[in-house]
Formats: sequence, structure tokens, C-alpha cells
Amino acid sequence: MSEVIIVDDEAEASKIVSDLLVKSIIKNPELVLGLATGSTPLGVYKLVAESIKEKHVDVSGVRGFALDEYVGLSKMHQESYHFVINSNVTEPIGLTPENVHVPDGDESTIEQAGAEYEKLIKASGGVDIQILGIGTDGHIGFNEPGSSLSSRTRIKTLTEQTRLDNARFFNDVDEVPRHCITQGIGTILEAKHLVLMAFKSTKSKAVADALEGPISAFCPASALQLHPHTTVFIDHAAAALLKNTDYYKWVYKNKPDWQGW
Ligand code: GLP
Repeated sequence: MSEVIIVDDEAEASKIVSDLLVKSIIKNPELVLGLATGSTPLGVYKLVAESIKEKHVDVSGVRGFALDEYVGLSKMHQESYHFVINSNVTEPIGLTPENVHVPDGDESTIEQAGAEYEKLIKASGGVDIQILGIGTDGHIGFNEPGSSLSSRTRIKTLTEQTRLDNARFFNDVDEVPRHCITQGIGTILEAKHLVLMAFKSTKSKAVADALEGPISAFCPASALQLHPHTTVFIDHAAAALLKNTDYYKWVYKNKPDWQGW
């Protein structure tokens, strides 16, 4: 079972998660971070960047792996995840660009791109802390409903819902690519610690299905129930459809200091 923390707002969760990341980097300067895109983790990345500067932490050895990328968008396109990760993570935090990887969505090499990305993750020793958001349909990375729970990095077709959800980043929904390359659910589950964040009522159904529903390919995030070390941060709106909230609150209230994250 995931550890479920119900926070008052996004800022509270971002602070806890950014502290966790900075402490982990200080403890292990070669930490391997799993990076999610989307708006949910942006507050975390901003706070990590501030804290790293303030504390003069050496991040030159930290490695990063993004979850996913659109197929067919140039790496220079402002909505490509190469661009997004570079401008929200690599540059502000001061990571070494060669240490930060994003799946390659170039159509000409797409057939090998998944297997190559898997090799890179493996060669790094595996992801230590994986930051995750969740799509309104329960996707993690870009693993849409129906994705195999043991899938590896590969090409997927985005649902119309995901394209509509992500249209806000583009001028028009027609500009949102139809295909993506994403770490598989099996890949994500190999990270040592999964940290999922979800805020606002638009995520409440996906959160309830993921945490309290059956483990099913129809809610890809429900695969997190199989992982031995998952921490979930949600606000009250995202928690609205959960049944076991009293217990989650009780557990958090009684969390011993020595337990850590
Ligand atoms: C995209 C990303 C996911 C992300 C999801 C939620 O589809 N591929 O990794 O979790 O959006 O986005 P947001 O955080 O903006 O709600």
C-alpha cells in the first residue's frame, strides 16, 4: 500500500518533496532522478533549484531520466519534453546536460529508441527517486489505459482526452502530437522510490481508481499498488473520492520522525 499524504495545498507537497530530493542529493551526489513533465512537479523543481543554490550543493554528478516525449516534435519545440526538461529542470537546477536524458521522439530512429533508453537507465544503475504526475484517465508517463502493466519504453498512441488535456500547452489541439514514446509501467516500477503528486478535483477519479481500485491496465497508475515504496501527495480536492482518508490522515499524524520518506 502506498503512503498517502493529504496536504492542504500544492505548495505544502512541493516543499516536502523538494526537501526530500535535496537531502537525497546531498546523501548521494550521483543520485538518479526520474523526472515527470506536466504542471504538477513544476513547484518542486523550482524549490529544488532555489535550495541547491542557497545550500551550494554540488549537483554535477546527479543523473536524470525523463518519463516520456512526444513523437515527431523537434527537440527545439517549446513543448517537446526535451525543451521542457531543459528549461524547468536541467538549467535552473544546474544539472550537467549530458547527465539528463529524455526519450528520443525522432521519427527516423523511433524503432530503436525505446530499447536504447532502457539500456541507458540500466547502465545508470536504475532510477532512485521517480517523480510522477497522473493523467485524468489514470495514466503515468504516457501509459494510457490498456497499457501492459509490465510494459517497457515504447511508442504509444495518445488518447483524445490526453491530447485535449495537454492542448493548453499548444496553440491548438491539432498541434498536439498523436504519438509518444514513454517509459513502460514495468520500467517505472523498477525505480526504487515512487513519488506521485496530484492536485485539484480533475484528478480525484484517477486518484481513487489508482489507490483504492483494483490493479488494472485500465488505470495504469493502479500498478503503483505493486510497488513496495510509493509515496503519494494529494490535496483535499484530489482526495475527495477516496474512502480510506481517515486512516491516511491517522497514519500521517502518527508518522514517527525516524521513519523518513
Ligand atoms: C502528461 C505527462 C505525464 C503527466 C500528466 C499530468 O500527460 N506525460 O507525465 O503526469 O501529463 O499532467 P499535469 O501534471 O499537467 O496535470
